[in-house]
Amino acid sequence: MQISPSSCDEERERIEIELLLEGIYRHYGYDFRNYAASSIRRRLWHRVNTWGLGSISALQDRVLHDPASMAELMSSLSVSVTEMFRDPELFAVFRKECAPRLRQLPSIRFWHAGCSTGEEVLSMAILLEEEGLLERARLYATDMNEEALEQARTGVFHLRKMREYTRNYLLSGGKEEFSEYYTVKNEHAVFHPRFLENVVFAQHNLATDQSFNEFHVIFCRNVLIYFNKTLQDRVHELFYDSLAVGGVLGLGNRESINFIARADCYETILPHEKLYRKVR
Ligand SMILES: C[S@@+](CC[C@H](N)C(=O)[O-])C[C@H]1O[C@@H](n2cnc3c(N)ncnc32)[C@H](O)[C@@H]1O
Repeated sequence: MQISPSSCDEERERIEIELLLEGIYRHYGYDFRNYAASSIRRRLWHRVNTWGLGSISALQDRVLHDPASMAELMSSLSVSVTEMFRDPELFAVFRKECAPRLRQLPSIRFWHAGCSTGEEVLSMAILLEEEGLLERARLYATDMNEEALEQARTGVFHLRKMREYTRNYLLSGGKEEFSEYYTVKNEHAVFHPRFLENVVFAQHNLATDQSFNEFHVIFCRNVLIYFNKTLQDRVHELFYDSLAVGGVLGLGNRESINFIARADCYETILPHEKLYRKVR
């Protein structure tokens, strides 16, 4: 069989990526082996080019010998883009369709998996306060990226983002003066600490860690798109095991429960919105 140079290059690159991800897993415990191949490849090459290296193998050499480089690579591999009240319609539906049911519970546990720098969980805390539910809620906000969590714990965001966040808040059904929720300090919006009082931030890796509680609401938005089918299936099992019957699963715009093994265990709360109720 003749192997063309390009397919030979592709095969070598595939081997190099597999070896690098295996090395990272065995040396540091971070498991990227089941991330979507195209996005991992793009991000690895970005690092190779930024550091002026010649190949993925050179990247392997560098990160396995230098934990600081691993930390930098980690931030390239963990896409932390987020917003407050991102996809505001979903929050509007949650407010209208889910909050009334949660009111019947004496205590409510939330899990925001892949919370990044905290905008999503803070949005939920604001919504819950407005619905009179924050006091009885405990929100677990987890991410694999400790740097993102550190930022999340502060509840501080750059002021330039507030115009967009205010617009999202209003579209999500918020009725208060959004600026009442923060004070401005050195070009930053500092959110009132009461919103984070019931939030527990912790490192948790969806690829390797187990469930740690039973929840009434799980939000994991814009995280599963970076995983391949094997890892998506693992995480969906984890969520199924962690969600109470009647509990709500919230996914990102480009994610859904179609084609997962447990699809028939959920009902769609409203067509076109990525909010699902576990029914069995
Ligand atoms: C694009 S952000 C999504 C933030 C927020 N959920 C949202 O929708 O705005 C993706 C987050 O998932 C986190 N993430 C990626 N892989 C993860 C894993 N295996 N375990 C936990 N978090 C992970 C990243 O660190 C990043 O903070």
